[in-house]
Amino acid sequence: MTPRMTAQRIDGKAFAAQLRERVGTIAAEFEQEAGRKAGLAVVLVGEDPASQVYVRSKGKATVAANMESFEHRLPEDASEADLLSLVERLNGDEAVDGILVQLPLPGHIDEQKVIAAISPDKDVDGFHVINAGRLSVGQSGFVPCTPLGCMMLLTDRLGDLSGLEAVVIGRSNIVGKPMAQLLLDANATVTIAHSRTRDLPAVVRRADIVVAAVGRAEMVKADWLKDGATVIDVGINRLPPEPGAQKGRLVGDVDFGGASEVAGAITPVPGGVGPMTIAVLLRNTLVAAHRNAGLDVPESL
Ligand code: GUN
Repeated sequence: MTPRMTAQRIDGKAFAAQLRERVGTIAAEFEQEAGRKAGLAVVLVGEDPASQVYVRSKGKATVAANMESFEHRLPEDASEADLLSLVERLNGDEAVDGILVQLPLPGHIDEQKVIAAISPDKDVDGFHVINAGRLSVGQSGFVPCTPLGCMMLLTDRLGDLSGLEAVVIGRSNIVGKPMAQLLLDANATVTIAHSRTRDLPAVVRRADIVVAAVGRAEMVKADWLKDGATVIDVGINRLPPEPGAQKGRLVGDVDFGGASEVAGAITPVPGGVGPMTIAVLLRNTLVAAHRNAGLDVPESL
């Protein structure tokens, strides 16, 4: 047997850096035309350490892309009513184009109620049912950042997706369902697989495109993949630490080492899908700013 070629690495980190650069340039032009910066408000409730890190990096990336960042921190014991009234205030604030309420929220706050309170035209996360509905009927709205980022990587790599078999593993509202919708809009033949799917390896073996978004470390194995498949790994899982180490390694939902010997192209973890999420958030915010200011959305966004 001839040794297999190794899959090409899909460099999400580099792609995201280019997208942020492009957003920064267009944001500067927006400021000239609109006479104000595009603005993103990020709301963090409580002290969750991972969320604090995300919120800080979102703030930095927003400012680096020539946009205004508004950070709102509420204490862990803030009431649902406090949060809803903050969202209401941001809905009415003309300097704010996009609103992101960092999830998860503390258990005493109803996440769905908070998402429903965000104006759909400022819902740059694309989580509001209005935006989910717009996506499902093909109207323009806001698409959740992670699946949109995956789609950008896929079309950059494959061009036209018409007729390709795509299998999305995972059916969350944030990734799996919108991902399937985007692939369907691009004329792929789409299967959504999940924890009750029978013979998952056989289903995945049909796929030209595999998007893994289940949150289970290295679940997708090399022998599940068709030769040359394009593999997008959305998972970010931390393995238990090796003896003597402080922290375990970060891995995706795909066994990267094995899959690299079968796939045509694959996203690494870290450095694949992860960096795309914030870049797309900035892009969505700048789209919102153009719409809110009554300006045409530039094609290159
Ligand atoms: N928590 C983890 N990822 C996200 C995200 O993309 N948006 C929001 N709002 N919260 C998150």
